[in-house]
Amino acid sequence: MSTEHPLGVDFGGSGIKGAPVDLDRGDFAADRLRIETPQPSTPEAVAEVLAELVGSFDGDSSPVGVTVPGVVRGGVVSTAANIDSSWIGVDAAELFSHATGRPVSAVNDADAAGLAESRYGAARGQRGLVIVTTLGTGIGSALLLDGVLVPNSELGHIEIDGRVGEKWAANSAREAEDLSWGDWAARLTTYYRTLERLLVPDLFVVGGGVSKHADKFLPMVDIPTPIIPALLRNKAGIIGAALHATGSA
Ligand code: BGC
Repeated sequence: MSTEHPLGVDFGGSGIKGAPVDLDRGDFAADRLRIETPQPSTPEAVAEVLAELVGSFDGDSSPVGVTVPGVVRGGVVSTAANIDSSWIGVDAAELFSHATGRPVSAVNDADAAGLAESRYGAARGQRGLVIVTTLGTGIGSALLLDGVLVPNSELGHIEIDGRVGEKWAANSAREAEDLSWGDWAARLTTYYRTLERLLVPDLFVVGGGVSKHADKFLPMVDIPTPIIPALLRNKAGIIGAALHATGSA
């Protein structure tokens, strides 16, 4: 398969997924490929899988953007809350470029989703401060001011009543504690009210896999700020990573 489009890759806990992205349309230019995330998901093991995935789309030297579920500054990963701790201090951009032979950029997973939602999705054309959150194993966040990303906001780690926010309010907590949608929405109300008090955004966008069930819990999240589901769902990470790779975000 060959493509002149940038390739976006979403590195998640269970799968590493990639697709070429048509940045004019903000959609995949070809079918997405998925490979299981190796366990343990060490940098070397992930780089090997990434090389295999990128190899399936070879034929040119278009840039590759890869999401990482941690803080990424200048390509270097500096936190690893939900991935193997050996990622800390690794220059992911350099490692992946070496493994794939392509120019690779690395971006926080929620920041990638935020870039995509802001350019093509639920927050398109929105002025002011938008907070995009992804509810999954952890809680990822992206801050966008007039469409410009302020990277690595890490609002999942905000402390609420002595607890790390994401440990209490992420979708993984709902599943592990078998919370009803109503009980989870009550926790999310506390979580989003905390963010609201500190940052006073104009809009919250709620992404992550569970956002496809937004009608079951979002209407019960009781906050004054408008809060809406993400539009690009599980495509957002890949599309945002490709945007980041081209430097057009
Ligand atoms: C990490 C973030 C990440 C989020 C979602 C958090 O635990 O600290 O960097 O964006 O999980 O994967």
